[in-house]
Amino acid sequence: MKAVILAGGTGSRLMPLTKLLNKHLLPVGRLPMISYGIDKMKEAGVTDILIVTSRQAAGAFIHYLGSGAESGVSLTYRIQEEAGGIAQALELARPYVGDDEKFIVLLGDNLFEEALTSHVDAFRRQPEGAMVLLKQVPDPERYGVPKFDEAGEIVRIEEKPTQPDNNWCVTGIYGFDRHAFEFIAGIEPSQRGELEITDVNNAYAARGLLRHGKLQGWWTDAGTFESLREASMRLSGDAP
Ligand code: DAU
Repeated sequence: MKAVILAGGTGSRLMPLTKLLNKHLLPVGRLPMISYGIDKMKEAGVTDILIVTSRQAAGAFIHYLGSGAESGVSLTYRIQEEAGGIAQALELARPYVGDDEKFIVLLGDNLFEEALTSHVDAFRRQPEGAMVLLKQVPDPERYGVPKFDEAGEIVRIEEKPTQPDNNWCVTGIYGFDRHAFEFIAGIEPSQRGELEITDVNNAYAARGLLRHGKLQGWWTDAGTFESLREASMRLSGDAP
């Protein structure tokens, strides 16, 4: 199975740092942020990885990561010319993953404590559809929030709801089958002008094809100054 790490976007919530450096190259603990995602994929046995990033940042990524050989993975790169949303960035992965394979997608600003191996293995065993991983958070309104049916399955995800249904959030790691690209072709830009990954997940949920797992350890995105600081503390071993 292959993985796609999305490392484009504008990093607007981390301006002016991200004027100088792509968010995913900012230091977290002792390493640039992108290193953690690559390590998590490698640990889960996924070593063929596509990195999607911006034209401005691509040179720095290649300079830092090269072929991936030093990290024990094989890297391919694609350029997202304009930051048009997570699903738009993912669409660029279609020729890389091909039409028959299942694949993992990781948002490059998501950082995880636990090994993702058991979740990736569960998705390997899943015959079809998509998988998301959930975490309880104090501020679900910042994220995609799942709604559950009586059986505990996700029936729909709401993106950044003002009145969240519960305090679960959809984290930035996904498993998809080949239908993801069909669903991306059928979605429209959201109010923030982006093709949303939540709409892709909702297309799976509407067909009863969205499974989920739950993270046990800490998880954070690192897209704001506060979360970047938290991530840095945790990954420096300074956290309480
Ligand atoms: O962190 C988890 C959350 O990530 C989910 O709960 C949300 O459902 C999901 O929409 C996403 O929300 P954010 O608003 O935090 O996503 P953000 O715009 O920060 O982008 C996340 C990553 O995707 C970031 O590391 C860069 C990459 N990206 C983003 C955009 C908009 C791209 O590669 N290209 C893009 O155009």
